[in-house]
Amino acid sequence: MTRVLTGIKPTGNIHLGNYVGAIRPALRRAETASESFFFMADIHALNQVQDPELYRKWTYSVAASWLCSGLDPEVSHFYRQSDIPEVFELATILTTITPKGWMNKAHAYKAALDKNREAGIDDDVDINMGLYTYPILMAADILIFDADIVPVGKDQIQHIEITRDIAERINNFYKTEALILPEHELQAAAQAMPGTDGRKMSKSYDNVVPLFASKKEWKTAIYSIVTDSSERHDPKTVDGAAVYDIYAALATEEQTAELRRALEAGELGWGDAKGELLKLLEDVLGESVERYNHYMTNTKELDEILQAGAAKVRPYARETIDRVREAVGI
Ligand code: ADP
Ligand code: TRP
Repeated sequence: MTRVLTGIKPTGNIHLGNYVGAIRPALRRAETASESFFFMADIHALNQVQDPELYRKWTYSVAASWLCSGLDPEVSHFYRQSDIPEVFELATILTTITPKGWMNKAHAYKAALDKNREAGIDDDVDINMGLYTYPILMAADILIFDADIVPVGKDQIQHIEITRDIAERINNFYKTEALILPEHELQAAAQAMPGTDGRKMSKSYDNVVPLFASKKEWKTAIYSIVTDSSERHDPKTVDGAAVYDIYAALATEEQTAELRRALEAGELGWGDAKGELLKLLEDVLGESVERYNHYMTNTKELDEILQAGAAKVRPYARETIDRVREAVGI
C-alpha cells in the first residue's frame, strides 16, 4: 500500500511550468498509488502573501487548477491545509524535539539570510518565524497522513530529508513507531520549462504562460517569448528554444517531431511556431478554461469540495495525533 501526498503553495496563479512539473506528474503518480492526498499549502503561502484579497484568490485559483487538470476529489483526497487543525497541533509538538540548528540549514531560510548579509543589513530583516520553521510545518503536513511517497521538485528534497529526520528523532527518543518515514520522489521534468524570457518559468520572474487563461492572455504571453532572429526560411536551431520546449512539454510526440522538422527545414518561422503553440493550448486546455472560470466565479463550489475533502481526511489526522500524544505522554 502506498500513500502519495503533495502540496502546492498558493503564491500566484498556476503557470504551464507548475502544471508540467508538479500537477501533471502528481496526478499520474496517483494512478498507481493506493491513496493520494493533494492539498493547498495555504498556511505556508501566508509567509509570503499578506494581502487577504490576493491570498484568497490564489488559494481558489490553485484549487481550481488542480480540479481542471484532472484531479477527481472522489478518487484523491483534496483539501486545504488550513482546514486540518491537526496539522498545526502536530507541528507544535514537532517543534519541541526539532533542533534549532536543523532550521538554520534549511535552504529557504539560508537564502534569505545570505541576501541580508550581502546587502549588509541585519541578519533578521524580513525573516518571519513562519519562514524559519517552514520545514517543521511541512513535516507535519506529511507525517500527519502517514505519507509514504512525496512527489516534489528538486528544491524540496531537503525538506523531505528534514521530515524523515524529525520523524526518526521522535520515534527513537520516545521508543515508538508513531511516525512513518516518507520518501521523496523527484518528479522531473528532465529540465525546468523555460519562461517567455528563456529563464526558468517562474512567477517570481514575471515570465509565465498561465495554465488557464483567455485566448488573449495566452496570445500576449506566447508572442512575448524570446527567439533568435532567424527568418522564416532559415533552418532553425530548436534545441534550447523556449517556444519549442514549451510546445514539446504539452504536445504529442508526433506533433513535436513535426514542429521540429518544419522549423529545421525553414518551412515555419518562430511566429508560426507561436501560432502552433497557441492552437495547441486551445486544443488541450480550452475546455478546461471554461470550467476554471466557472469555479473562479462560483467559489462556493470550491469551498464545498475542499470542506468535504477536509472532513474525509481529518479522522486519519486524528489517529496520528492520538498516537503521537500517547507516545509523548499527553
Ligand atoms: P514558481 O517558481 O513559479 O514560484 P513554485 O516554486 O511555487 O513555482 O513551484 C511549484 C511547483 O511547480 C514545484 O513542484 C516546482 O518544481 C514546479 N515548477 C515551478 N516552475 C517550474 C518550471 N519552470 N518547470 C517545471 N516545474 C516547475
Ligand atoms: N514546500 C512546498 C513547495 O514550496 C509546498 C509544500 C508544503 C509541500 N507542504 C508540503 C510539498 C508537503 C509536499 C509535501 O513547493
